[in-house]
Amino acid sequence: MAYILLGVDVGGSSVKAGLVDVTSGELASELLSAPTPVPSTPDALMPIIAALAARLPSSGPVGLCFPSVVKNGKVRTAANVASAWIGVDGAALASRAFGRPVTFLNDADAAGVAEVRWGAGRGVPGPIVMLTFGTGIGSALFIEGELYPNTELGHLEMRGMDAEKWASAHVRTALRLDWSQWCERVNEYLARMQALLWPDLFILGGAVTEHFADFAPLLHVEAEIRPAHFTGQAGVVGAALAAAG
Ligand code: BGC
Repeated sequence: MAYILLGVDVGGSSVKAGLVDVTSGELASELLSAPTPVPSTPDALMPIIAALAARLPSSGPVGLCFPSVVKNGKVRTAANVASAWIGVDGAALASRAFGRPVTFLNDADAAGVAEVRWGAGRGVPGPIVMLTFGTGIGSALFIEGELYPNTELGHLEMRGMDAEKWASAHVRTALRLDWSQWCERVNEYLARMQALLWPDLFILGGAVTEHFADFAPLLHVEAEIRPAHFTGQAGVVGAALAAAG
């Protein structure tokens, strides 16, 4: 029987929300989105999240994923959202806004949870590195299907800067890199991941993976690479799955 929960994915550029059948991982509504406000303070973001949720009537717990380290419901970093979030108990804040329990977690971790449960990593026992390419680069590590939460591998230093300032999807569009120029950067990043983590599988996520067929032939690393099954929707699906427990 379908069990439908609301999933919300706050990103550096957009907020996405959808209803998810957590028994199948399928979206049970259209995916709504709104631009992330600038500055993306709690006061500015919460009404946007609430407005999207109001268009997707649901009951039960809510899953909300966020582009930050989240420890015990609290936001601990803010690379691509307003620094006013640091220290905020996002789980408590959102629970008050929704009047329902909220599971609050890192966005890449949520995307990885969706992929390992229902998508590109399903049934893969070995070490998996999920990387999401968006405004930043998010990471999620899995072994035997279990998540090691809050890895921040987009902040590994490369070329004297955070890797995400060198190879994110945002950097590709901002610098108007073509696929081959961007993939050169991604290859360098993947090579670092390979040398440090030796996964069996890389899953690449983020909206950019809708174009996976265009750029996949340009990617080279020892471990297998698969595109995220849920592409840019993985965060929404994974947040809802996390809320289901
Ligand atoms: C943040 C991560 C997040 C990633 C993707 C990074 O800048 O530090 O927590 O997962 O962006 O949004």
